[in-house]
Amino acid sequence: MKKVGIIGVGEYLPERILTNSDLEKMVDTSDEWITTRTGIKKRHLAAVGQAASDLALKAAQQALENAKLKAEDLDLIVVATITGDMPFPSVASIIQDKLGAKKAACFDISAACAGFVYGLSVAEKFIATATYKNALVIGTEVLTSITDWQDRNTCVLFGDGAGAVVLSEVKKGGIISTYLGCDGSKSGILNMPAGGSRNPATSETVRNRQHYLKMQGNELFKIAVNTMTDAAETVLKQAGMTFADINLIIPHQANARIIMAVAKKLGIPQDRVYLNIERCGNMSSASTVTALCEAVQEGKIKKGDIILLDAFGAGLVWGACIIEW
Ligand code: ACO
Repeated sequence: MKKVGIIGVGEYLPERILTNSDLEKMVDTSDEWITTRTGIKKRHLAAVGQAASDLALKAAQQALENAKLKAEDLDLIVVATITGDMPFPSVASIIQDKLGAKKAACFDISAACAGFVYGLSVAEKFIATATYKNALVIGTEVLTSITDWQDRNTCVLFGDGAGAVVLSEVKKGGIISTYLGCDGSKSGILNMPAGGSRNPATSETVRNRQHYLKMQGNELFKIAVNTMTDAAETVLKQAGMTFADINLIIPHQANARIIMAVAKKLGIPQDRVYLNIERCGNMSSASTVTALCEAVQEGKIKKGDIILLDAFGAGLVWGACIIEW
């Protein structure tokens, strides 16, 4: 098996910003409640007409430039998203055309907030087995397109953005271990009830606001803490490592309290946990990858560092990954 590593990163966050004080004018909430309960201060919003592939394209172009590769060099494009431009075709197909990556095989992955880690793990296998040479893995979301702006329980949490990485064979380091999991029995606590084959769109589903994300936040909170802790411990065990070996944890950014509770359970100091939730909110599939990209661009990840990605979301699904940079 070949060693597989990230050779380029890219990110795009839309220009429009929605602050907590903007939200105070929309629903019965306060900056104080949002900040103390979630750690979020503001989030980016896609422009009207800007879809998941538009955000993804900009992140992908930056990642390719960073990797010093051309679109034609790509053999595979995997896009993690739950807010694709439309139910089909895949965002990956749209990106292939926009980039001009003519020889790349393309598909999307629906694993919500763990989508990027799922995508990374799948793409890694294609390169490790020498099926493909270069892969582009993207996490992109326009979550605000499925956000109910009348529901204060959810609308304060989400934002839009995209991140991308280029994967290729590396001589040293790279992805050391990945661990993916799912508990489908709890899929009902976070979903979008209509718009699929169970409840196709009708005037009634629209009237009943079933095309928006529904979440039992409180229940998820406890599961998220335990699951992210377990996933981190499992992937480390698989790699034969301990937390002392980890230089930086890049967790999914659903709630700063969840992240700090996980760090506390694992005995990891806060300065070894990367956060962008304050500026970006929860961007589902795009959260972990944009945080990774920012940590690299800010110089917080250096060559030889050991990074732990740890994500959890709707499904319920989870994924963790250890990378030597
Ligand atoms: N402003 C003011 N008050 C609010 C708001 C708001 N925006 N939202 C809820 N409240 C109120 C509630 O109505 C409730 O009031 P009550 O006590 O009078 O009934 C009170 O605040 C407490 O509500 P809780 O839901 O218990 O608040 P909690 O501390 O659990 O925080 C939150 C809610 C932020 C949603 C948290 O539960 C959370 O982060 N959950 C996990 C989310 C997650 O991990 N999601 C998975 C990934 S997302 C994905 O996959 C797309």
